[in-house]
Amino acid sequence: MESLTDTPARRERGKALRFVAAAGITALASALALTGCSPASSSADASKTITVLAPPDSSGSMQKLIDQYNKDHAGGTQIKVDTAQTDMSAYFDQLRTQFTAGSVKDDVVIGDVTWAAQLADNGWVQDLSDKFPKSEQDKFLPGGIAADSWKGKIYGVPWFNATAYLFYRKDLLAKYGYTSPPKTYDELETMAKKVLAGGDVKDGYLMQGAKYEGLVCNAAEFVWNSGGDILDPQDSSKVVVNGAQATAGLARMRQLVADGVAPAASTTDKEQENYTDFFNGNALFMRNWSDFYRLVNDPKTSKLTADQVGVASLPVAQAGQTSSSSLGGWNLFMNASSTNKDAAWDVIQYLSSDAAQKVRATDGGFLPTRAALYSDPDVNKANPLTVIGKDAAFNARSRPVTPFYSDASLAMQDSFYKILSGQEPAAQATTELQTALEKVVKAK
Ligand code: GLC
Repeated sequence: MESLTDTPARRERGKALRFVAAAGITALASALALTGCSPASSSADASKTITVLAPPDSSGSMQKLIDQYNKDHAGGTQIKVDTAQTDMSAYFDQLRTQFTAGSVKDDVVIGDVTWAAQLADNGWVQDLSDKFPKSEQDKFLPGGIAADSWKGKIYGVPWFNATAYLFYRKDLLAKYGYTSPPKTYDELETMAKKVLAGGDVKDGYLMQGAKYEGLVCNAAEFVWNSGGDILDPQDSSKVVVNGAQATAGLARMRQLVADGVAPAASTTDKEQENYTDFFNGNALFMRNWSDFYRLVNDPKTSKLTADQVGVASLPVAQAGQTSSSSLGGWNLFMNASSTNKDAAWDVIQYLSSDAAQKVRATDGGFLPTRAALYSDPDVNKANPLTVIGKDAAFNARSRPVTPFYSDASLAMQDSFYKILSGQEPAAQATTELQTALEKVVKAK
């Protein structure tokens, strides 16, 4: 967004620079890139409140950014946060109902990476193509930009990237003679069984298996990492989830539960249950998002130390296959009905700026969506995932992109849950899912 010439943007660059200095971060070089213009008064300075609808942020880094903005704009535009739900499926359900009823009052909506097509297709969020030109989009990781694009236009600004990794207990693997984390599901299972038999952990592998959006992410990874797919990557109107590899991948997911490597309670677990359990020292492996890596350094949330916890790419079915994470992360959307669009855009620019993302990455443990920050020494030092997890972050794969995502997600949750809980064999569930998804992608 550096190419923008409007005054709100210029002003925000000045504010962002002061914030970086106030935060005591030695980021002068990158922060300077945000400046180059003197602050000027702007339409965004009229006394206004911009409300931002966002799920809670336990890192505190979002509130820190907002407090700074409000301080810098005392007497002018202020940001107020309305708290949404953490469960992305429940949040999206509620939001869609409210958009349909025309009752969303927030100017900015922070939402999931899978929502843009549906929000855009219904006219609920603002087309940002004029404000966020291609030259600026190019500074962001391509996955987030693709996810926020619909029919040649862009409707959101990627705020942070979430990539899933295999968190593992380095100390326990070493104790049992393993020098590196597992690359395949078979290796993972062998290692887990050995450590479980030794009584060092209660659970071998933790995953998000409750019937919600998290299960879609976890199961999609089993599909991709077994060489299968949900939609044909060459033609997204073609459903391919009943293919042999996709079905085998989902069967492998179930097998981890059937073999006692993943707990039966996986079917009720979400992100938080998993990381609480893992950081309490109860499990050998955990699939979870990049955002939670920071928790290991905090004795309030972790009984472990950073030395005991490694992160690796997710395992694959056959050695040598490409490992993919689901592309996760949240985006900044502008309510198409906002009556304060200039000020709302000012806030979106501020929150997605280099300087703000740097704070989120260093203080909050979030992976940035701006590519340059992955080469920033301060970010690399404070957030090691920007180095060791960089490739996985850049190569994360999108869940199906469709304006009927909520229906597609429900169909996937249903089938993946039946498989994980052992209610249906994978072959039967993927046959049913094939039919259900075909209806969704053909819907007009
Ligand atoms: C995280 C991800 C989001 C995903 C959700 C699933 O919030 O950032 O993309 O949909 O987890 O639970």
